[in-house]
Amino acid sequence: MGIIVRDYHKDYKRWAWQINDNIGFAEDIKMFQLDAKDTSYVFGVIDEGYLIHGYFGKKLSGDDLTYLLRLEENPWVPKTNMRDMGTFMDQTAFEYPCHGTGDYREPCLMVMDGEGMTTCDLRYVSHKVYKGKPALEGLPATFANEDEAETLEITCTDKHTGLEAVLLYTVFNELNVITRSVRLKNTGKAPLNVKRVLSACVDFDNDGYDLITLNGSWARERVLERSKLHHGKQGIDSVRGESSHQNNPFMALVSHNADEDTGEAYGFNFVYSGNFFAQAEVTQNKCTRAVMGINHFDFNWLLEEGGEFTAPEVVMVYSDGGIGKMSRTFHDLYREHLIRGEYKDKRRPILINNWEATYFGFDADKLIDIAREASKLGIEMLVMDDGWFGHRDADNSSLGDWFVYEKKLKGGLKHLVDEVNKLGMKFGIWFEPEMISPDSELYKKHPDWAIQVRGRDMTMSREQYVLDYSNKEVRDCVYGMMKNVLDSANIEYIKWDMNRQLTEVGSTSLPKERQRELWHRYVLGVYDLMNRLTTDYPHILLENCSGGGARFDPGMLYYSPQIWCSDDTDAIERLKIQHGTSICYPASAMGAHVSDCPNHTVGRTTPFSTRGNVAMVGTFGYELDVTRIPQADRDAIPAQIAEFNKYNPIIRTGDQYRIGNVFEDNMWDAWIFVSKDKSEAVFTFVQVLGRPNYRSRRIRLKGLDPDACYKNSETGEMLSGSALMNAGIFVKLDGDFTSKVVHFVRQ
Ligand code: GLA
Repeated sequence: MGIIVRDYHKDYKRWAWQINDNIGFAEDIKMFQLDAKDTSYVFGVIDEGYLIHGYFGKKLSGDDLTYLLRLEENPWVPKTNMRDMGTFMDQTAFEYPCHGTGDYREPCLMVMDGEGMTTCDLRYVSHKVYKGKPALEGLPATFANEDEAETLEITCTDKHTGLEAVLLYTVFNELNVITRSVRLKNTGKAPLNVKRVLSACVDFDNDGYDLITLNGSWARERVLERSKLHHGKQGIDSVRGESSHQNNPFMALVSHNADEDTGEAYGFNFVYSGNFFAQAEVTQNKCTRAVMGINHFDFNWLLEEGGEFTAPEVVMVYSDGGIGKMSRTFHDLYREHLIRGEYKDKRRPILINNWEATYFGFDADKLIDIAREASKLGIEMLVMDDGWFGHRDADNSSLGDWFVYEKKLKGGLKHLVDEVNKLGMKFGIWFEPEMISPDSELYKKHPDWAIQVRGRDMTMSREQYVLDYSNKEVRDCVYGMMKNVLDSANIEYIKWDMNRQLTEVGSTSLPKERQRELWHRYVLGVYDLMNRLTTDYPHILLENCSGGGARFDPGMLYYSPQIWCSDDTDAIERLKIQHGTSICYPASAMGAHVSDCPNHTVGRTTPFSTRGNVAMVGTFGYELDVTRIPQADRDAIPAQIAEFNKYNPIIRTGDQYRIGNVFEDNMWDAWIFVSKDKSEAVFTFVQVLGRPNYRSRRIRLKGLDPDACYKNSETGEMLSGSALMNAGIFVKLDGDFTSKVVHFVRQ
């Protein structure tokens, strides 16, 4: 029997949902409706067992939505006319497309069976709905309790091979968020090779979107790019073993008219820190298929009989209020449902990091000098960066030798930490746990522990190799060394760095049929160690870092509430980096420091106040030799810290509205953070380049309560939210790189 096409007007009724509120299934028409706050996501199961996508957007009521499947337009409905099955497969919107049966668009799944065949044909078997959200074994993922989310699991199988795929969808009750992932199980009688398993696909009904991605390079991470979709495939990926400086695992499809405040935006973010694939494809019918998941490039996973594989999570956000609303939804989700640990809802200690102050040229006395001066100014934690271990005096040795370099730290680590603690400061330390220097004791003992292809030269990068984290013995050994260090002194913060990407990806401990699993097994190994670390040392604040911001991804946010944004600490460069980062990541997670001038990366000199005002939109800290900076800058630090303390609760927990756009206008940038109850706001304006000073700029604020009256901290003026947002305020600054912060308080 073919499809029963309903006249939905005649048959209209409110469908009795099988289970309450947010995930509904209308039994007789086999339609699912997933509701997340003001968003609906709709798909159906047709008689042949295909899951057909119907809708993703603003919330719908409980109509009969079978018409959205467009089945009445399909004269080629399967079974009734097998000759045209191919047309059906290639033009229908699918929830989870497979390779091999006539859908020539980007598939989510490709599996090779024992005969070398790669055709796969998943059909619906059953589903279940439950409250809450399951954890994903060994993987980071957003979390929610039974009052916060509901989950739908749909089980499908490919009869021919016995492959079972469980599609997971979770809707958040109070957020416009739907998450997706996929669990595979081989229920057949022969091993299978998974060639690709993406986590999500959304087939849009048209091509009327722009694609937004976050791209860059070292010291220029997450630069926002926007382009109109065109026929064919466009997207970004990583094949480097980490999420990368070059491309962030994020993409958004936004309506052509979308700006910060209006239009539709669909954001996709991958909760993963390795090779990823994100693509939008405009098809022959001017429809758009968006897919995201682990990169299938050089990927293979052997699924023995009974074996299971879980694909990481994709977060999908819908906004009917432009790009800004999409960003705020991501921020809320990540702050509440991804970031964990003691510092989740806390202000982070104001730190001073010695990297740009000393690079490798420090000893205990130098660090104590820095700490002494810093403590007088109100700085709360000293972070000892790279160079304290093995015999490391440059970046060419000792990674893997996680024991103290006595020549530099005379008296040992405990002595140093105690001295710093006596000054009233906390102490933090740098590790690069995934790496091994050829010049190290570890390498002499275990040359086979580096990732390598036996018999081939190994590519060096920053004079180091990458450890094979798929091997538990390697992880145990590194963790043992880290534990010795952490247990030897009062360490309250770790910067976990990762300074090179993977090459010659091979493992001396995996069998040949599992070598292509190393890309993913490596990431799982990193997660395992981060999990052990955060479980055993819950009081330690973990900050992730990768040559700056190459691992600013949601996977890492699950383990560390903050991530170093970029090695580029110049306040003006940071406008773009932090703007791009804020597209999906909250300010509470952005590692940002005030550094010395001329800036070490770009050679630019900016006012100390501007460096502070820009770093304040982050975790905040200093990265300079506080004993040697100009006296005037040193004198400015206590007031800067007082400002940070005052504004941080609003910036860390409030709503962010981007007002300026340095990507479009190189002359200025501005943003405002508004507390959730709209009682306070912090507005920051940065003038990139001065201009003939004949007139002030009029800047319209955002996010305030239009009916409330706010006091301007700079002028003392009282104005309504409506005046501030519609008529705006006047801002006038002299000179290049100048800035100001204005605090608005509801009266
Ligand atoms: C990376 C980090 C820097 C610093 C150095 C140390 O580049 O991003 O902040 O820690 O490593 O080698």
